[in-house]
Amino acid sequence: MRKPMLAGNWKMNKTRDEAIQFELAVADKLPKSVDCVVCAPAIILRDLVKRAPEGLKIGAQNMHEKESGAFTGEISPVMLKDVGVEYVIIGHSERRTYYNETDQKVNEKIKKALEFGLKPIVCVGETLEEREGNKTEAVLETQVTKALEGVEISNTEDVIIAYEPIWAIGTGKNADQNTAEEACSYIRGIVEKVQSKKVADEIRILYGGSVKVNNIKDYMQMPNVDGGLVGGASLKADDFVELCNKAI
Ligand code: PGA
Repeated sequence: MRKPMLAGNWKMNKTRDEAIQFELAVADKLPKSVDCVVCAPAIILRDLVKRAPEGLKIGAQNMHEKESGAFTGEISPVMLKDVGVEYVIIGHSERRTYYNETDQKVNEKIKKALEFGLKPIVCVGETLEEREGNKTEAVLETQVTKALEGVEISNTEDVIIAYEPIWAIGTGKNADQNTAEEACSYIRGIVEKVQSKKVADEIRILYGGSVKVNNIKDYMQMPNVDGGLVGGASLKADDFVELCNKAI
């Protein structure tokens, strides 16, 4: 019922030429039954959208919560829409940690993204300390509730939640499939509480954190995990193709 999604998060990697080479390399190799997305650095988005092969969707990694104004160095939802971007990652833990992105800002960004026809991929997840202190559920409850406060989801395909435990990101220590399932199922329960059963049943929830070609299938088997948000392993075209084809 929920279409699987495999979203690559390139973070601060790839020049324009490297990104175009990637697109050429994945062309004709992506499955139609999966939403295959790459979230690229803002400066190359336009080139990627223009040259995107069939079946590859393009996303940004962040956006400002206002449409325009005196915010030096920032990029607005209007600009992303203008270059033809479809998705935007909101509230990645690296943004929360290094750039003080609060739950409040995440909420504002989600609303603005939807207002301008962009589909937010909303990241939530606990730190190692929080997990060890048995606070995972409380953290997820706060993050998801605040993120979706006052958000009107008219099309459930337009909002994606990514469960990304911070201790698993870029560490090679992926959460095992049961841990991921438990958290994603818990998140679905919160969505039901703050939105509706329909939204909870239909919204896609991804797992992210050291997802690789050799473990993606473990997650896809779990009933509440609808795909992956993949950093490091999404940088190589061959691996990205394999990840997408295993995300069915
Ligand atoms: P990783 O990153 O796959 O390199 O762990 C995931 C992410 O930050 O989205």
